[in-house]
Amino acid sequence: MASRKLKVGIVGLGGVGAVHLEAYRDNPRIEVVAAAELDEKRLATLASAHRFKPYGDFRRMLAEETLDLVCVATTVATHEEVTIACAKAGRHVLCEKPIAGSIDAAKRMIAACAEAKVKLFYCATYRFLPAVAKARALIQAGAVGRVLLMREQEVGGAGPENRHIMGFAHYPKGTPGGSGFGLVDHGIHLIDLFGWLSGSEVETVFGRGNISGDAASVEYLLMNFRNGALGHLLYEDGTFPTGLPGEGLFSWGSAWTLSGAYVPPGAWQAAPGSIHVHGDKGALRIFHYANQLFLTDKDGTRQVALEGRHAPGHFTAQMEACAATLLNGAATATSAEEGLAALEVLMAAYRSFEERRVVAL
Ligand SMILES: NC(=O)c1ccc[n+]([C@@H]2O[C@H](COP(=O)([O-])OP(=O)(O)OC[C@H]3O[C@@H](n4cnc5c(N)ncnc54)[C@H](O)[C@@H]3O)[C@@H](O)[C@H]2O)c1
Repeated sequence: MASRKLKVGIVGLGGVGAVHLEAYRDNPRIEVVAAAELDEKRLATLASAHRFKPYGDFRRMLAEETLDLVCVATTVATHEEVTIACAKAGRHVLCEKPIAGSIDAAKRMIAACAEAKVKLFYCATYRFLPAVAKARALIQAGAVGRVLLMREQEVGGAGPENRHIMGFAHYPKGTPGGSGFGLVDHGIHLIDLFGWLSGSEVETVFGRGNISGDAASVEYLLMNFRNGALGHLLYEDGTFPTGLPGEGLFSWGSAWTLSGAYVPPGAWQAAPGSIHVHGDKGALRIFHYANQLFLTDKDGTRQVALEGRHAPGHFTAQMEACAATLLNGAATATSAEEGLAALEVLMAAYRSFEERRVVAL
C-alpha cells in the first residue's frame, strides 16, 4: 500500500485523457496535480471539474510542477516527443498504447528513459479488466487445459463512410493506422493480451493492416505462439453487423461500441466486445468491457464471479500498480518493453502482407 499519494500529471485530455481523470477521481493513492492540453476550452472545463492546474504547454508543466509520474495520453504520433521530454525532466512515464507509431521511435523512448534513469510504464490497460484478469487466473489453474486458440473480432458498423478513422494526428499519412477498433489502435491490446493469457510468445505471423490515408480493407492477424496456440484477430468497421434482434447482453461495466460510443453500466449492448479462449479441456468467453465471464467444459456452461473494478476502474488499477512500483518498490506491472514487443508483432504483420509470406519474430 502506497504511503503517500502518487503525484500525477497528464498530457493530452482527449477521449482517453478524460477517462484517466475520471478513473483517478477521489482516489486515496493517486492525485492528478496538473494536466496539459492544446484545446483551451476542453482544458478549462476539465480543470474546473477535476481541480488540477491547467497548462497549454506540457513543457511548462514539466518545468513548474513536482510530479512523480506523467501519463502520456496524447495522439500516438506525439508519444515519442512527449515521453522523451518527460525523461529529460526526470519524470517517470506511463505511456498510452500503442507505445509509438514505429519500432525505432519506441526504442528511442526506452533508451531516453533508461538514460535518465526513469521508468517507462506501458498502458496494457486490458490486463487490468476483471474478466480478463480472472480468465488468466483460470487458464493458469488449468481450467481450459492446453490453450489451442485465442480469437477476437470487431466486425460491423454503418457502411464505409462511417468508419471511425483515427486520423493523421495519430497515424501520419502513409503509416500503419486506421480505425479506433482496427488492428493498430485496438488490436495492439489483444496482441499483448494473447501472450499474457497463454504464457507464450509469438513465433510467426501473417496479417494485413490498413495504412493511414489509403483505402481501407478487412484487417486480420494470425499469430502462431511458441507453445502451439493460434491467435486470430479480425477487424472491419465499414460494413454492417450480422446480429439478430434480441442478441446481446446487459453490460455490467462501462463499454464502447464499434463507433466509439459510450455504453454505461446496466445498458443493453447488441454486440458487446468479447474474447474467446479455447483449450483442450474447456473454453472461455470474456466480455472484457461488459464485465462478464463464462466457462464451458464437459460439465456445461457457467458464469464465473468477478472481483475488482470494471471499466474505467481498470485505469485506476493500472495507475495503482505504477504507484506500488514507484512508492513501495513493487515489481513493474507493465513495462515499455512489453509495449515494444506488441508493436514488433504488429509491424511484422504489415511486413508479412507486403512480402506475401509468413514472418518470423
Ligand atoms: N488504454 C486504452 O484503453 C485506450 C483507449 C482509447 C485510446 N487510447 C490511446 O490513448 C491515446 C489518446 O487517444 P484519444 O482517443 O484520447 O485521442 P484524442 O485525439 O481524443 O485525444 C488526444 C489529445 O491529445 C492532445 N494533444 C496532442 N498533442 C498535445 C500536446 N503536445 N500537448 C498537450 N495535448 C496534446 C490533443 O489536443 C487531444 O485532445 C492514443 O495513444 C490512443 O491509442 C487508449
